[in-house]
Formats: sequence, C-alpha cells, structure tokens
Amino acid sequence: MIYLEKLFDLQDKVVVVTGATGQLGKKICEAYRSCQANVVGLDLTINEKERIEGVDYMEVDISKKDVLVGIFRKIINKYNRFDILINNAGVSTFEPFEERPEESIDQVMGVNLKGTFFCIQSYVNLFDEFKFEKGSIINIASIYGVVSPDYRIYTDCKRKNSEIYGATKAGVIQMTKYFAVHLADRNIRVNAVSPGGVYNPENPQGSDFIKNYSFRCPMKRMANDSELLGAMIYLSSEAASYTTGQNIVIDGGFSAW
Ligand SMILES: NC(=O)c1ccc[n+]([C@@H]2O[C@H](COP(=O)([O-])OP(=O)(O)OC[C@H]3O[C@@H](n4cnc5c(N)ncnc54)[C@H](O)[C@@H]3O)[C@@H](O)[C@H]2O)c1
Repeated sequence: MIYLEKLFDLQDKVVVVTGATGQLGKKICEAYRSCQANVVGLDLTINEKERIEGVDYMEVDISKKDVLVGIFRKIINKYNRFDILINNAGVSTFEPFEERPEESIDQVMGVNLKGTFFCIQSYVNLFDEFKFEKGSIINIASIYGVVSPDYRIYTDCKRKNSEIYGATKAGVIQMTKYFAVHLADRNIRVNAVSPGGVYNPENPQGSDFIKNYSFRCPMKRMANDSELLGAMIYLSSEAASYTTGQNIVIDGGFSAW
C-alpha cells in the first residue's frame, strides 16, 4: 500500500454518523462509504428515498439516552467494533429572540448539547466494556460557536441564526476540548469541525443572504456541502494520530476578519 493510502486508510472501520439523512449527514455517509468503511447512519426517522446504498440505517433520538445506548450496543454486537463516532445531528430555532419560547431553547439544548453528550458518554462506556483500543470522535460545531452571526447579512432570510444555537455550538467546541483531555489515556481522540454557511441546493437560502454572505466572506461564496469532508477524513484517520482537542473551522475565511 502506498504511503498516502496507508495514512488515510479507513477500510472496514465502523463509522457511526448521527443526523445521517440531513444535508451534511448524507455527504458524510457517502464519503466514508467511498473510503470502504462500514457506515451506520442514525437519524430520527429514515425515509426510503433518503437511503444511500451500503449505509446501515437505524432510527434513534439521540436525546433519549436509554434508547441510544441500546442502539450503540446493537452496532457493536453486529460489527464487533466501533471506531469513529461523528456527532453531526443538530437543530436550531429561528424566532426573534424576544419571542423565543422555553420549548425552543430546550429542543436546541436537548439535541446539540445533551444529545452530543449522551453519544459520547454511551460510546465511552461501551468502549470500556468491550475493551476497545482506539477511537476517534468528531463533533460538528459551527462558526457561530466561535463568532456571532453578522446580522447585516440576514436581510431576506427567515432562518436568522439564534443565540441559543451559537451557545450550544460553543458548548460543543468546549466539550470537544474537555473530552480530548479526559479520553486521551484511553486512546480516543476528540476533535471538532466548524462549518461556515453551507449552500443548500435543495432548499436555497435567500438570494440577498447568499449575496451578502458572499460579500462578507474572503473567499466570496458559501461552502459546498462536500468541502468539510477532507477535514473529517483527515481527523478520523492515522494522518491525525497526534491531533486531539482541535476545532477546524471551514468557512472560507469568514471568521478570520
Ligand atoms: N448547513 C450549514 O450551513 C451548517 C453550518 C454550520 C454547522 N452546521 C451543523 O452541521 C450539522 C448538520 O447540519 P445540516 O445542515 O445537515 O442540518 P440538517 O437539518 O439538514 O440535518 C440535521 C439532521 O439531524 C437530525 N436530527 C435532529 N434531531 C435529532 C435527534 N434528536 N436525534 C437524531 N437525529 C436528529 C435531523 O433529522 C436531520 O436529519 C448540524 O450539527 C449543524 O448545526 C450546519
């Protein structure tokens, strides 16, 4: 095997992706399948038309700890390993903050923070129980966990980013550092990927928003949904064997000025 192939080899690894049928989840599942990994895709509901060939789908709400543990155990019983956990499931809420109801706050915190925590906790407990030797966790955070949204760009866009979303994503970045430190002795690396705005061809953001965002971004455009995958494959591979506790921001330079 040539050096580069060996460095990024993910063949036969078991990769579990949460939020697997969403915009980024689908791309993540496709990418790891094309690396010949065994991909298990988790989401609340799995519709037939959303399935990607070769991905093993299971339905679960990651904010329900007991059900989640059962699903993780089922994955390990089936594959005898669990190498890479990708905490990609995430939700937001878009009311003006003056009108934000408590249920919206609970929903965003329940999935983004509690759900991500339950996934990590369940994974690590089973990792210990099954005496696994090596693991990698990648948390999908956001640039809005690093900087505030710039409200000047949201003119015609109904999906204005919320403070609670940003707070949970900042929490995910902090949890990444916390667990990188606490799990280093177990040989589990924990890193985050923080995307900037990703263009959604199936449900495009408003044209003013795209124009304003592109003007504000040094690379003058939004991300394509495949532009996060290289960093994820890097972080989960041997190429990143000494990389833990990091947050790779992929935003075309948006947060650099
Ligand atoms: N798209 C972007 O521009 C962007 C930018 C920065 C960060 N992100 C982050 O990337 C991740 C993926 O975003 P996306 O754009 O693909 O969103 P998406 O809404 O298309 O997909 C999210 C998926 O998570 C699933 N999900 C929600 N709650 C769940 C739960 N309780 N249990 C299991 N699954 C659940 C949803 O069903 C959905 O399939 C999210 O964490 C998001 O915050 C996205």
